[in-house]
Amino acid sequence: MAETRRDVEEALRGSFLFPLLDPDERARFIAAAHPRTWRAGAAICTLGDPGSSMMLVRTGQVRVSHPSPEGRSFLLAELGPGAVFGEIALLDGGPRSADVTAVVETTLLVFERRDFVPLLQHNWRLAEAVLKVVCERLRVADTHIADLAFSDLPERLAKTLIARAQTGPRGRPARVSDTQGALAAMIGGSREAVNRALRKWQRDGVIAVADGRIELVDPEAMARLAGAVEED
Ligand code: CMP
Repeated sequence: MAETRRDVEEALRGSFLFPLLDPDERARFIAAAHPRTWRAGAAICTLGDPGSSMMLVRTGQVRVSHPSPEGRSFLLAELGPGAVFGEIALLDGGPRSADVTAVVETTLLVFERRDFVPLLQHNWRLAEAVLKVVCERLRVADTHIADLAFSDLPERLAKTLIARAQTGPRGRPARVSDTQGALAAMIGGSREAVNRALRKWQRDGVIAVADGRIELVDPEAMARLAGAVEED
């Protein structure tokens, strides 16, 4: 048990919340945290569930998504070590606003409302930090909403490919490792529509597919498709 507490303390020291607490609050924060591990693929919480806890990602990665009635899902965020989630239900007492799933084996520190809210009530800097998390999420969500309203699917896909591209190995073009299903979830489209757009771009020589990855062989054409540069 002492070992677990030391572990928890070490994890919390690295968190953006910890420097905002005085020594007494730190001790309460550490005592209140429950470590818990989820297997890869496990549902941590589900849209509509009642929820009274907030989680800090200690190790691993989680995916926050909104399910569609046809069984697809729209990716809202991927969160790694140091990020918090579950703050919405903790703060407003409503149900969970999204599905959260462990991408890989993930350890979280869980805080219950009854322990966390009293800390928020007495520490404005802590409350401000949590509000900033919510504000940042709203800003990103606004950008998503504008993209859905103003950009068609190929434009959203091109923007996402540019954003997700990583440098290719020695002399190879930048490439994207996400599956077509994952890309569809990021842009709010179907896998079939993503596949159609990718096949057309492959025929047009804008992308190539190598080792199951999408290579951006003509980055300028891709930037035009993303609306980043004016068409001639
Ligand atoms: P809560 O509603 O309690 O449970 C689901 C959590 O997903 C939510 O709190 C937030 O922490 C997180 N979440 C919901 N919507 C978004 C979003 N658009 N971006 C990032 N995280 C989100």
